[in-house]
Amino acid sequence: MSYTFPVTRNPNPKPKPNSSELVFGKQFTDHMFVMDYDEGQGWHDGRVIPYGDILISPASSVLHYAQMMFEGMKAYKTEDGRILLFRPEMNARRLNRTNERICMPQMDEELFVSAVKATVHEDKDWVPDSPGTSLYIRPFIIADDPALGVKAAKHYRFMIILCPSGPYYAANRGKLSTTRIFVEDEYIRAAHGGTGYAKVGGNYAGSLRASQKAHECDCNDVLWLDAIEHRYIEEVGSSNAFFVIGDEVITAPLAGTILPGITRDSVLTLLREWGVPAIERRLSIDEVTMAAKEGALKEAFASGTAAVISPMGTLRYLGEEYVINNREVGVHSQRIYDTITGIQTGKLPDTRGWTQQVD
Ligand SMILES: Cc1ncc(COP(=O)(O)O)c(C=O)c1O
Repeated sequence: MSYTFPVTRNPNPKPKPNSSELVFGKQFTDHMFVMDYDEGQGWHDGRVIPYGDILISPASSVLHYAQMMFEGMKAYKTEDGRILLFRPEMNARRLNRTNERICMPQMDEELFVSAVKATVHEDKDWVPDSPGTSLYIRPFIIADDPALGVKAAKHYRFMIILCPSGPYYAANRGKLSTTRIFVEDEYIRAAHGGTGYAKVGGNYAGSLRASQKAHECDCNDVLWLDAIEHRYIEEVGSSNAFFVIGDEVITAPLAGTILPGITRDSVLTLLREWGVPAIERRLSIDEVTMAAKEGALKEAFASGTAAVISPMGTLRYLGEEYVINNREVGVHSQRIYDTITGIQTGKLPDTRGWTQQVD
């Protein structure tokens, strides 16, 4: 089934920011997408309208019980001016897994992808083209029943907003550099049976205290450990985490507590195609720090839509600092970064059907 949506053009388009001054998530484009859900009617009245503030009842369930979810993806400009999305059907599938967890309605994958394309199409001129920049796409759903009481809502609003973005870590402007990562030994992000695998706002609110601690130690982000033993590596901030020990590249398994990253899946696919042993297993922080001391920890990197591939240069754990690969960008990090960004921006052929063009 193909979907089309009515468009109301913004009569007052904003000046576009200078591509070299873009930061992550601060400036928004001229349009946004809105669609309603009503019980018995399903998703209806999808439309592209001018970007602007929205009106919701102060009793809306999202404001009290955090019944909301979001996704994160990007549009990239190719050298010949085309606009590409990277594996958008994977975001649609993840949205539905999240929705199932928090009792929100399912959405047809094609409806989701068509809505993203329609919104990006309207703001095509906002997709920046300098190295390391892209148009960040933030689809989200809020429960806006105007009634208090902890229960699944009957009315939802799906929206998409767009922001032209520079690198997630300011240090990565134009080329890769390494980050300082704080290993959180007190707070946890998610436990088995919780919402760790779902992209819900509450997961992120619960992470803020640890981020503050990380920033106090001059670190860029938090590496989470498991909820029970505070020992096994989970993920980093809003990215998945990979460690290269000896010849193996190791990442946490998808066991319900970490977000199944689309970049993570792409990294594993590429490594396996290249014949690099890419293992999904529990990895303890002790094994990592021991490997660092013995010189067996060759590289570590985070993977995510916003962070792309962000090599870690230092791990700070229990007040000690562990330097990785002399704080230099490792060979795997660089090769994966070049390959993924190459496919996303059309510089490398897309032999896996990972990109979709926005017409
Ligand atoms: C907690 C968390 N882990 C991992 C990721 C990476 O996922 P993806 O590669 O799909 O962006 C994200 C970003 O969405 C995230 O928020």
